[in-house]
Amino acid sequence: DWNMGDFAEEEIQRIKNQIGDKRAICALSGGVDSSVAAVLVHKAIGKNLTCIFVDHGLLRKDEGDQVEKVFKERFDMNLIRVNAQDIFLSKLEGVTDPETKRKIIGEEFIRVFEREKEKLKKEFKDIDYLVQGTIYPDVIESGTDKAEVIKSHHNVGGLPEDVDFELVEPLRELFKDEVRVLGKALNMPDDIIMRQPFPGPGLAIRVLGEITEEKLHIVREADYIFREEIKKAGLENSIWQYFAVLPNIKSVGVMGDGRTYAHTVGLRAVNSSDGMTSDWARIPYEVLERASNKIVNNVDGVNRIVYDITSKPPSTIEWE
Ligand code: XMP
Repeated sequence: DWNMGDFAEEEIQRIKNQIGDKRAICALSGGVDSSVAAVLVHKAIGKNLTCIFVDHGLLRKDEGDQVEKVFKERFDMNLIRVNAQDIFLSKLEGVTDPETKRKIIGEEFIRVFEREKEKLKKEFKDIDYLVQGTIYPDVIESGTDKAEVIKSHHNVGGLPEDVDFELVEPLRELFKDEVRVLGKALNMPDDIIMRQPFPGPGLAIRVLGEITEEKLHIVREADYIFREEIKKAGLENSIWQYFAVLPNIKSVGVMGDGRTYAHTVGLRAVNSSDGMTSDWARIPYEVLERASNKIVNNVDGVNRIVYDITSKPPSTIEWE
């Protein structure tokens, strides 16, 4: 008769015993795993945990503010938000190859985190623990991930082994759905624990080719509208992943009396159980229609919307 509330209590006690009155840091991405791990450790050691949230400027609309709000205000945690948009965008300037983008983002992420860590160490001297949201599938897949060969999955939560720290990995024995139940037991809001998977490199791999602020703006706004329509249709928790991409194609359209030459936005919604294979979601035409109309009417620079009807394989879920 296994109960998640009991698990939480036991884990909190175990973490208390492990860390004592020492200090810990964590890299918070706002994703389900790192968020639940952080809240659990916070329950155990309170303000002796400092979370570092690197905002690389490639997040979805309002996401950075939401993360800050939930963890600072609702959970009263020590959270440092690093606004590193400019650094990331300048490093990515002119880069078009998807794997190079991933590599740059992964490396830059580590650099920014290390810098913050060093600052904190000067302040506190005795930070001995690093909290990670490693879950059971990460443990069994590490090193043998087939997807790795196809796309290098720089998970933003995954930092290189750091000899300075002892790891705290309270979710090591849990599957994703169990992590969500645990999050619920910890009173975490649905918009965090039910969050769809979001790649570490973020919108950088949803703007095909070179990334510019203008393109990021378009994909961010279109994505927001699509997600809102999915939510209004009551589908937000029944589709594995859904988002907008910017294929970097311009085509001819007509608006009012004039000819336009503007961007195409791709909409993607898939069902999957582990991300390794997926099927495109048969979302109702009416939902697609509403999203399409809203996007072309509200997002400047867009005159065409397409829906992706390929499965994985042969496609991948993301377009890059
Ligand atoms: P693909 O596109 O390979 O994606 O079918 C499978 C799942 O992994 C996510 N994904 C990533 N996650 N870093 C991540 O942390 C990445 O570079 C990355 N690329 C893909 C994708 O969103 C899907 O859930």
